Amino acid sequence: MIYSFNTKKTSQAADKIAQEFGKGIEKLNAESISEKEFQSFKNLILGVPTWFDGELPNYWDELVPALEEINLKGKNVAVFGNGNQKGYPENFVDGIGLMARLLESRGARVVGFTTVNGYEFESSQAVRGDQFTGLALDFENQASQVNKKIKKWVEQLKKEFKTK
Ligand SMILES: Cc1cc2nc3c(=O)[nH]c(=O)nc-3n(C[C@H](O)[C@H](O)[C@H](O)COP(=O)(O)O)c2cc1C
Repeated sequence: MIYSFNTKKTSQAADKIAQEFGKGIEKLNAESISEKEFQSFKNLILGVPTWFDGELPNYWDELVPALEEINLKGKNVAVFGNGNQKGYPENFVDGIGLMARLLESRGARVVGFTTVNGYEFESSQAVRGDQFTGLALDFENQASQVNKKIKKWVEQLKKEFKTK
């Protein structure tokens, strides 16, 4: 699981995800991971909050250009992302969508899609049909739902990571 160790809420979510997974999950810092390390995993979970009206935060400034160059064929990747649907209803969890598209363009199989039901926002680059291309977490407005959503998502990933 890769995310920036400098984040607050993303790190909290990552800890909960790791707890749910139990054994066999490793936490790596997006700010210092090497391309070789990244490539050494078949199943990956990436955590990206959305900042600056629909952009990825600067902790990803080094990894994103590296990802744009590498071949991710054969990898299963799931994306979770923090956002604020009331504060930023036009760009809710855009980062999930940006990251999912980038990964797909490099050949990865993106898994862990979840329903948009139960959220209220205007637009999001993370929406495809009636799903988000990952897990959308909103600590600001739906904190009480976070644990349950993570639990369900991890169960889903355990199955989806196995299928290919
Ligand atoms: C400057 C700034 C811009 C933000 N822009 C967005 C946005 O465009 N879309 C969104 O869903 N959330 C946005 N947010 C909300 C954050 O994604 C949310 O607070 C998230 O939980 C932060 O996670 P972190 O503590 O891991 O950085 C923004 C927050 C800040 C501080």
